[in-house]
Amino acid sequence: MTTPVDLSMNETPYPPLPSVRRLVEQGAGQLNRYPDHASKALVGAIAGHLDVPPEHVLVGPGSAGLCQHVIAGLDRTRGEVLHAALSFEAYPLLIANGGARPVPVPMDGFRHDLAAIADAVTADTRAVLLCNPNNPTGAVLHRAEVEAFLDRIPPEVVVIIDEAYREFVTDPDVPDGIDLYRGRDNVCVLRTFSKAYGLATLRVGYAVAGARVGAASRMAGMVFFPGGLGQAAAVASLAADATAELATRLADLAAERRWLAQALTGYGLPVAPSEANFLWLPVGDGSAGFAQRLGEAGVLVRPYPGHGVRITVGDRPANERLLAAVRETTVSPVP
Ligand SMILES: Cc1ncc(COP(=O)(O)O)c(C=O)c1O
Repeated sequence: MTTPVDLSMNETPYPPLPSVRRLVEQGAGQLNRYPDHASKALVGAIAGHLDVPPEHVLVGPGSAGLCQHVIAGLDRTRGEVLHAALSFEAYPLLIANGGARPVPVPMDGFRHDLAAIADAVTADTRAVLLCNPNNPTGAVLHRAEVEAFLDRIPPEVVVIIDEAYREFVTDPDVPDGIDLYRGRDNVCVLRTFSKAYGLATLRVGYAVAGARVGAASRMAGMVFFPGGLGQAAAVASLAADATAELATRLADLAAERRWLAQALTGYGLPVAPSEANFLWLPVGDGSAGFAQRLGEAGVLVRPYPGHGVRITVGDRPANERLLAAVRETTVSPVP
């Protein structure tokens, strides 16, 4: 039997960049050594890349790990963290691990309902999580509405903007979280090397936030993370040659996303507009069965029972396998 194609994890289909791979291979001879616990080279590289002060950069075990550390490091007299539902399924766990109570706020269709989130803020709100683009729906929030939202949020409440998929965005009206952080000391931007940079297994994420957020989160973080190979690979990923290669890959992926969305629509499936490296098919009650049938046909996708199915954009051969599996199966779209 042929190996299944895995389009369930939002991974990049591209192999590591040659420069990054070389470094990791060389690093295998140094596995007995502890990493630089302050990640100085990596923090410096990120700070230079984004033009922010190094003391505003935190690095950690993936952006998911950092999300938890940031929440744990904020004002613990406040017990709640708001997040959109449907959004990244790990948020409730990360919030709970950060010592707070997750408060889901229903979506407005595929998008965060920013007005409802702002209305849900109370004196007990520690932080608000925005996911832009949103996992799993692929929808984006635009600059003007996010700025208006931030103006409504009290300065004591930290707004964590999770931009795990930021690099895949092509819509120019989507704000760069780093621009929003400048001048607002209650904004914390989370990013990762797991997705566009293709380093998911090395667990390297970063946060950019003012001193108020950063200081306590550093204390809440784990020591010796990220590991040495992750630090080196992430530094190499920000070098000029790697950045140029990344831009080519991102353009290819955006083209593939358009192509795949069109092909799936051609099969009568509902496909939501996506600015990430995955597509959201809101097939409602058909989700679990659809995902199961695709799995039986050798293509793994992520069902959200009752809501939809999330399909990662793969390379062309993987996407062709998906389309072949779709042809073999059927689904009843929500009316
Ligand atoms: C929205 C979002 N944030 C964070 C993460 C975690 O990424 P990392 O590998 O950096 O922990 C994911 C992974 O799927 C995600 O979808």
